[in-house]
Amino acid sequence: MTAPRSRVLSGMQPSGLMHLGNYLGALENWKALQAQYDCYFFVADWHALSTNYADTSRIRTFVREMLIDWLAGGIDPERSTIFIQSRIPEHAMLHLLFSMMTPISWLERNPTYKEKQDEIKEKDLTTYGFLGYPVLQAADILLYKPDFVPVGKDQLPHLELTREIARRFNDIYKTAVFPEPKEHLTKFPKVVGTDGRKMSKSYHNTINLSDPEPVVRQKLKTMVTDPARVRRTDPGNPDLCPVYEFHNIYSSQSVKDQVNRECRTAAIGCIDCKKLVADRMVEQLTPIWDARAKFTSNPSQVDDIVQTGSQQAAHVARATLDEVNAAMKI
Ligand code: TRP
Ligand code: SF4
Repeated sequence: MTAPRSRVLSGMQPSGLMHLGNYLGALENWKALQAQYDCYFFVADWHALSTNYADTSRIRTFVREMLIDWLAGGIDPERSTIFIQSRIPEHAMLHLLFSMMTPISWLERNPTYKEKQDEIKEKDLTTYGFLGYPVLQAADILLYKPDFVPVGKDQLPHLELTREIARRFNDIYKTAVFPEPKEHLTKFPKVVGTDGRKMSKSYHNTINLSDPEPVVRQKLKTMVTDPARVRRTDPGNPDLCPVYEFHNIYSSQSVKDQVNRECRTAAIGCIDCKKLVADRMVEQLTPIWDARAKFTSNPSQVDDIVQTGSQQAAHVARATLDEVNAAMKI
């Protein structure tokens, strides 16, 4: 007899196209977890509404592209349960029940609540749903009673709130329905964007998994370099150059050594240096592009995968909600 595998659950918001930062930061980690854990991965489309409720024109496209990115990037439906949040009404139901018992003060002191409101000035985020974002996340997580939730550091306050809600529920209803999930911290390699800031959709500095090769090459060509290196004859410093951060991720040691030497003496120019890293990046993205093309031209295969995953997820979610209703005498 083998012990049941520990369960892992995580989600991603389809608020745009997936970029290299999402891929290297989250997806690579999810991929590795599949070998060892019973994995549940879902597209958090309701969460995307918290900031995009006023424009839902592209949400279906983003959901679809995200699923294709996951599958092409190596999330394996034979090993992981892949589903879409909005296909499982139990997420909304548990969210409602949790909302009855979650003190507003817990939500108002959530650091991401204030931070995001300050960051996204162009949208009205003074909504009930935006304040309650972590309550929905708690429902997402606790429905599946996972042992671990792989997330980046920015999500730790949400996970802490999830545990607080679990504890409060268990206390109030004298039950042990919800175990407290632990974080599985992703070593988020900070991925730099083409303007030298952190790669982020809101900075328009991303390289997307769905970008075709010429676009990727063009984005690298125009990427910022060591600002002190103005002319070809000026020596540069890779330690101050965002392009070099991509060398660190994609290039071999010998190429990195070469760039380190030749940049500092202006023996290599930025155009050639960028070409070196573009070639390596293209090489490593090509299998993903090929797989993306396959899934894109076979939409019913993606539908089937999500259908099967959502059925499996619904089964687990239903069982938990039955326990919740019993504990609450609903
Ligand atoms: N809030 C997460 C993010 O922005 C996405 C998310 C929604 C999530 N529900 C989740 C992550 C449940 C882990 C578990 O990245
Ligand atoms: Fe950056 Fe390469 Fe140019 Fe040096 S040669 S400044 S590492 S792009």
